[in-house]
Amino acid sequence: MALPLTMDQILCMNGEGKASYAKNSFVQEKVMSKAKPVLQETLRELYLDSFPECLKLADLGCSSGPNTLLLLREIIDSIDVIRKQLNKKEPMFQMFLNDLFRNDFNAVFRSIPSFYEELRREKGGDFGPCFIAAMPGNFYGRLFPDRYLHFIHSSYSVHWRSQVPGNFVSEFGSHLNKGNIYLARTSPKSVLEAYLDLFKRDMTLFLTSRSKELVPGGHMVLTMIGRYMSVNLPDDQVSSVLELLGMTVSDMVQEGLIEEEKLDNCNMPCYLPTPEEVRKVIQEEGSFHITRFETFIVSWDAEMGDGDLRARGKYEAASMRAIAEPILAVHFGEEVMDDLFERFARKVSRYMELHKGEYLNILVSVKNR
Ligand SMILES: C[S@@+](CC[C@H](N)C(=O)[O-])C[C@H]1O[C@@H](n2cnc3c(N)ncnc32)[C@H](O)[C@@H]1O
Repeated sequence: MALPLTMDQILCMNGEGKASYAKNSFVQEKVMSKAKPVLQETLRELYLDSFPECLKLADLGCSSGPNTLLLLREIIDSIDVIRKQLNKKEPMFQMFLNDLFRNDFNAVFRSIPSFYEELRREKGGDFGPCFIAAMPGNFYGRLFPDRYLHFIHSSYSVHWRSQVPGNFVSEFGSHLNKGNIYLARTSPKSVLEAYLDLFKRDMTLFLTSRSKELVPGGHMVLTMIGRYMSVNLPDDQVSSVLELLGMTVSDMVQEGLIEEEKLDNCNMPCYLPTPEEVRKVIQEEGSFHITRFETFIVSWDAEMGDGDLRARGKYEAASMRAIAEPILAVHFGEEVMDDLFERFARKVSRYMELHKGEYLNILVSVKNR
């Protein structure tokens, strides 16, 4: 039996061009701006606790695009305000950018000189200095030496799983998650349990690894997409935007444009946990003390569509395409991608005519024990 594919083999955001992640990451940018107050409070706490001479930081799942260095800029600005209030000398910064091996780190590196230049212009020649490095690798495992980092950040990355969930096939050989690419209202309990089990194993490994890499008392801020506790949804509502994407694929199966078998074998390697599931896994793993735990909403189009339903559908489809196309193209073929995402844009518009299309975001700040 073939082993399940690992994320290193299949996951990578869309690179270069109109459909790239770099050009379509406005949802993630909005999420980072909403999470900023918690980031600032956490950095204040960290700095007041320890005043490190060189702040060692890491952003896990940094991707390649405008958000990659934006976080570092937010951190530098926040620390600058805090240290001025406390009349302290500027610290040095060492920032590690982490993502999977296939991430376009070259594009990130090319943007570093102008980032340094902007810092020098705005903050003065004797600022920092700030050293940026890459640390490629899978964050479901160790990335750094013991007790090395003061602060870890990760936004919109830990809802990705470490592997594609195994094929959901019953003992009689039928597909248990038939017609879906992810959890949907029609998914049986066993499929939910398999996803949840993978989430718990991944997150436990993630937390244990980070706890070893952080200094005692080090902090971590994580933001991820979540979902509400299961509620009985009316028939015309979906449990997540991925269900709507799955319905679009299913329409294409009905029209003979995609083979049914391909849809039945596609299970997206992500899991949107409930806030309770996140809290529980952190508590049960035990290495971290939760200092802040919040949820907030961002609409599927991050309000980019300005209320115009057609535009809203297009924005959401472009945003989804930037992250999901590489995986979906492997399953269904490059040649159906334009059609799939055009149909998906129209489906999102129609859905948003009747319902709110929103991401529930879970934001948690923890301190290493
Ligand atoms: C949607 S992007 C978010 C990027 C950025 N943090 C932002 O907010 O714009 C998610 C990133 O997480 C990365 N990722 C997912 N699983 C990972 C893993 N196990 N190890 C390292 N990076 C991972 C993906 O490759 C992708 O670049």
